Amino acid sequence: MRNYQIFIFVSSLLLLCGCDLEPQKSLKKIKIGLSIPTQREERWVRDLEQLRKEAAALGVEMLVQISDNDAARQLAQCENLLAQNITVLIVAPHDAAAASAIVEKAALQGVKVISYDRLILNADVDLYVSFDNVKVGEIQGRYITRMVPKGNYVVLSGAPTDNNAALFRQGAMNILQPLADRGDIRIVMDQPVKDWQPIEAMKLMENALTANNGNIQAVLAPNDGTAGGAIQALALYKLAGRVPVTGQDAEAAAAKRIMDGTQTMTVFKDTRQLAAAAFGAAMSFAAGGRAPVNTTVPNGKKDVPSLLLEPVAIDRNNIGKILVQGGYLPREEVYGR
Ligand code: BGC
Repeated sequence: MRNYQIFIFVSSLLLLCGCDLEPQKSLKKIKIGLSIPTQREERWVRDLEQLRKEAAALGVEMLVQISDNDAARQLAQCENLLAQNITVLIVAPHDAAAASAIVEKAALQGVKVISYDRLILNADVDLYVSFDNVKVGEIQGRYITRMVPKGNYVVLSGAPTDNNAALFRQGAMNILQPLADRGDIRIVMDQPVKDWQPIEAMKLMENALTANNGNIQAVLAPNDGTAGGAIQALALYKLAGRVPVTGQDAEAAAAKRIMDGTQTMTVFKDTRQLAAAAFGAAMSFAAGGRAPVNTTVPNGKKDVPSLLLEPVAIDRNNIGKILVQGGYLPREEVYGR
């Protein structure tokens, strides 16, 4: 058991036995609000599924809102959750900066806010639960530069509204920049992808291929969705499978592409762990306790107490062991049939 799992286990026990309220009654009184940005990506479908499991296992009511990549909608939905007397609010912001208004509203009601996966900027966030996102970028950068130590690179990054996108890029550039400075690699395109949309990634990749007459040797794609878009563009140039492409999220479609050889790797962030950690923290807050942290991350307003989990590089060599045997993806989704 990892430290945070032990903590969650213990704090759940405390919650069940240690409160002055009768145990069943105290759990019934807790209402968790959850606001997530999208269900259009498999990654976020898994998060929601897992958080629902956590809530169901404890018989705790969880009110869910999906903002569909719209910051104004997310604020309105969170106001709606706050109006329903939630005890703790878990928010994965669509727009890191705009979401500070959500934290202000919650504070007025004394509701603690957990920033889930993505950090809310310039706000008095109570806890940030995520992965080491700079490391995610470093894993991608290290993997692809080992495969392609010289050549023309396309560097795509995530949505500018998402603080994670900046962290992933920072990590990737920690590895790529020295090679670019030495002239070993040439970054022929360096562009953000609006709202992380695969179709935008595809268009950017097509532009890069056209502008360079197909002379591209590597693609740093920040996640599996954008990798899928970039690979579609590469396929138009008959280059799918011949140009290494990174990814992130261990989505089923990406796992298939890795086995087909069109995507090189992905970064696995176990959403089961993330959801368990966030929900455990919410329960602790609800009981008046504290949540486990292992670092702090500055968000422009404060050093936010944070729990950052470990990302893992996946390629065709360890996909079976980690994703299939680890119970994350069914065998047939990875290998077909
Ligand atoms: C998440 C990634 C995800 C991306 C697009 C990021 O904030 O950390 O896992 O691929 O958003 O949804």
